[in-house]
Amino acid sequence: MTDYAGTLRLGVNIDHVATLRNARGGDIPDPLRAAELAQKAGADGITAHLREDRRHIRDADIERLMDALSIPLNFEMAATAEMQAIALRHKPHAVCIVPEKREERTTEGGLEVAREENKLAGFIAPLREAGCRVSIFIAADKRQIDAAHRIGAEVIELHTGAYCDAHAEGRMEDRDRELNALREMSAYAHSLGLEVHAGHGLTYDTVKPVAAFPEVMELNIGHFLIGEAVFRGLDAAIAEMRRLMDEARA
Ligand code: PXP
Repeated sequence: MTDYAGTLRLGVNIDHVATLRNARGGDIPDPLRAAELAQKAGADGITAHLREDRRHIRDADIERLMDALSIPLNFEMAATAEMQAIALRHKPHAVCIVPEKREERTTEGGLEVAREENKLAGFIAPLREAGCRVSIFIAADKRQIDAAHRIGAEVIELHTGAYCDAHAEGRMEDRDRELNALREMSAYAHSLGLEVHAGHGLTYDTVKPVAAFPEVMELNIGHFLIGEAVFRGLDAAIAEMRRLMDEARA
């Protein structure tokens, strides 16, 4: 199976525009405005994570994004009944199931699919029936990929955080090991018929080796792009990421 149709897509995660807004409690900066700008700047999709504690994206943001965007929304959420009901109400293009702990600063690891297979199979079935593409955010681990495949997910998103952390901390052996695992597991997941996405912590310095994996169809990138936007503007920050992705792919 070598159907690598289409170019590598870039999903821009706008959570941290909401983080900045919520720091002052008002309405600015508006994550929808960022999403519209990202759309103009060449994003193929917008990603937003409605966390249980609503620390960044709020319910009303999801509603406004669904109304206003003409590119797909990738709705990240924990596997809870509340989030399932919200997803079923909005029916976004894609739903990405992520693990969530209140005390964490960000999504620290992948979902433990293998241990909760039955529960997750039942959880994603109505989402799939509603027409959402269901993605599962997991570590580059064969056990988790097999489990994601068995529960009927169409997509997996591989957690690139460990690779990016190792790079940032100068642990080059660890970085190379993590990158190898991502490479091998992308190919393995693809061989099962899963669509492969990747994301978390990616920057201009770390994006190219991941973008070069032919099986990876989408990268979801947020924190770095929103930070970089402070210095060069969101459209230029996205354009540069897009350029690096295309360069890696070529
Ligand atoms: N993909 C998933 C599933 C995530 O949970 C996140 C973070 O919310 C990202 C991608 C983007 O990570 P970052 O903001 O570090 O680029």
